[in-house]
Amino acid sequence: AGSARVRHFLKDDDLTPAEQAEVLELAAAMKKDRFGYRPFEGPRTVAVLFDKPSARTRVSFHTGIGELGGLPLVVDNVSALMGRGEPPADLARVLDRQVAAIVWRTTGQRLIDEMAAHSRVPVVNALTDEYHPCQILADLQTVEEKLGRTAGVTLTYLGDGANNMAHSYLLGGATAGMHVRIAAPVGYQPDAVILDRAASIAATTGGSVVAMSDPMAAAQGAHVIATDTWVSMGQDGKEQRVAALKPYQVCAELLEHAASDAIVLHCLPAYRGYEITAEVLDGPRSVVWDQAENRLHAQKALLHWLVTRR
Ligand code: CP
Ligand code: NVA
Repeated sequence: AGSARVRHFLKDDDLTPAEQAEVLELAAAMKKDRFGYRPFEGPRTVAVLFDKPSARTRVSFHTGIGELGGLPLVVDNVSALMGRGEPPADLARVLDRQVAAIVWRTTGQRLIDEMAAHSRVPVVNALTDEYHPCQILADLQTVEEKLGRTAGVTLTYLGDGANNMAHSYLLGGATAGMHVRIAAPVGYQPDAVILDRAASIAATTGGSVVAMSDPMAAAQGAHVIATDTWVSMGQDGKEQRVAALKPYQVCAELLEHAASDAIVLHCLPAYRGYEITAEVLDGPRSVVWDQAENRLHAQKALLHWLVTRR
C-alpha cells in the first residue's frame, strides 16, 4: 500500500487554506527566480501520464520538471503503459520505486484515487472528469497578481456547472476565501456533495459559495468572470449542450454587470462564439495568456512543496 505520510494533490481541498497559500507564495517567488529551485537535481524522474489530449498541462509539466532539475517522463498515450488491463494500483507500485512523483490526466477520479492509495510518491491530478486542481492554483496565482488578493474576491463561473472546472473553482476558491458563484442551467448544476463540501470550507475561510441559474445576477459586481468549454473531453451531445448553455456565454453585455475592472479567466482551449465571444477572449479584460503561463509556476511550486515537505 501507499505510505500514510506522503501527500497527494488529487482535488483542490487536499491542501488546507494555509498550505494553499504557502504553495501560491512559492509560485510567485519561483516566477521571479525561475531557475533557482532544483529539488529534482540528480536528475530525478517525474512521470507525467495522459489519457486525454493536452497542450498547456503537457508543456508546463514538461518544462517545469526540467527547470526543477528533473527529468520528465511524458507518456501521451497511457494505453502504451496500461493497455493490457493492469490496474492503476500495480502501475503505482512499479513507478514509485523509480520516480519522484506521478502526474496523471485521466477520466474517472476513482482511477487516480487508486493510483495514490498505492503510491509512496506524491500523485498529482492533471485533470479528471471531476476536478482540475492544478488549473485552479494557476488561476488563483493570476487573480492574486492582477487584483492583489484572493480572499474576499468574488469569482463568477458561467457555463457547465457540473464539470471539473466548476467543481475545482468551488473547492479551490472556497479554500482561498473567495466568494464563488456558479451560474448554470438546470441539469448543469454542480454536484451537491461538492457544493456542500465547498460551503463548509468557505465557512472556515470567510468565503462563500452559491449555485444559481441567472447569468446576469451571478455576474453582478464580480471581480473575476470565468468560463470553460461547454463540451468537456469525453462528453457528447454537443448540440443539446450548446442550446442549454447559450444564455451563459461570456460576452460584452454580460461583462457590463461585473465590476468595471473585472478580469476574465478561461483555462483554454477556448471556443470563440460558444462559451466566450472573440471580443472578450481577445479583449482588454482577458488575462488568459498569463493564466496559461502560471500553470508552469504554480505546478513547479506544488511539486516542490510536495517533495520537500518534512
Ligand atoms: N487548461 C488546460 O488544462 O489545457 P490543456 O488541456 O491543453 O492541458
Ligand atoms: N472542462 C474541460 C477542461 C479542459 C482543460 C475538459 O475537461 O475538457
